Amino acid sequence: MRSVSDASWRPSTTAVVSGRPAPTPDAPLSVPIVASATYAAGGPVGYGRYGNPTWDALETAVGALDGGEAVALASGMAAVSAALQVLLTDSDPAAPVVVPRHGYHTSLRLLGRLGRPVRPVDVADTEAVLEAVQEAALVWLESPTNPLLEVADVEAICAGAHRAGARVAVDATLATPILLRPLQVGADVVVHAATKYLAGHSDVLLGVVVAADGDVADALRTHRSDHGAVPGPFEAWLALRGLRTLPVRMQRCVQTAGELAVRLEQHPAVTRVRYPGLPTDPGHAVAQRTMAGPGAVVAVEVVGGAAAADAVTGATRLWVHATSLGGVESLLERRRRWRTEQPTVPEGLVRLSVGLEDVEDLWDDLDAALRATRP
Ligand SMILES: Cc1ncc(COP(=O)(O)O)c(C=O)c1O
Repeated sequence: MRSVSDASWRPSTTAVVSGRPAPTPDAPLSVPIVASATYAAGGPVGYGRYGNPTWDALETAVGALDGGEAVALASGMAAVSAALQVLLTDSDPAAPVVVPRHGYHTSLRLLGRLGRPVRPVDVADTEAVLEAVQEAALVWLESPTNPLLEVADVEAICAGAHRAGARVAVDATLATPILLRPLQVGADVVVHAATKYLAGHSDVLLGVVVAADGDVADALRTHRSDHGAVPGPFEAWLALRGLRTLPVRMQRCVQTAGELAVRLEQHPAVTRVRYPGLPTDPGHAVAQRTMAGPGAVVAVEVVGGAAAADAVTGATRLWVHATSLGGVESLLERRRRWRTEQPTVPEGLVRLSVGLEDVEDLWDDLDAALRATRP
């Protein structure tokens, strides 16, 4: 299907337009949901596991936003797994992988099960990353990291890693292409759990890998066909519909997160706020220099540790106690309630995913929960 595109458009325009069918008479403005496993022989799709016109539209749009070739998969973890397998295919099986010491816990578990040595690093410590990169096959970055919000200098790391012969993958789920475009500063692939901000409405699981190089994108598509972690056409459509409003959602939730972070820093029930938008945050300078905004996830440590944090997550009325992030609704959870979370994540850390509700309503609810449960 021919679609509309113009490389000179800015992200807010690209998000609305990219992947949309060309305006021929009676062409639908909304991409059709093509629900077919079988295709008449002779065309480019061939079979429902090899391709789908609704995926194509989503991939066109995400690829345009990130500046690469996008491949959609069944979930964020399917995207993480595909990126890892493809980027490591031709490397020495004994070559280490540099991994974030903190990061999404399921990604870290998968990285630990590759059968290769792993070198955990603080992604915010560029020198440490570049030391660890010697003889490594791959640097796996998250930026900002989930849930500690450490910020990597992606450009400096890519330059050093490539000099050392390693490839770089960046999970930019918390940043989105609106705030960070790793392919533009040298990353080999960028990974998004599109489940989060890209789709944005907590109603779909989907992942995307965007590759700088067409051969890597081809290998990702072959991996998807072989392993079968394909997105459903309706899921791809939902993700594309969500993506249309990504820039405006990001603008709003980043603004609200910034306001809440400033107030939380002064709160008597809070011992520490981690948010790269705060001048006091260790990631502030790098975020300011390399990102178009500090994101909308805020991590707070509460007075009273795990018990107090559990009490807070049980006491809000508006904030929903749930795992996930990036949807229109604000969520909170104590991360260490997961057995698989890194032991270095503080017991009393509550991750806030700031959504689109009114900032004053969010503040009133959170402030009341923090005060009510203060030990
Ligand atoms: C940074 C990051 N990457 C990957 C994933 C995995 O995404 P999914 O749940 O869609 O598999 C998540 C999920 O929370 C995440 O936060």
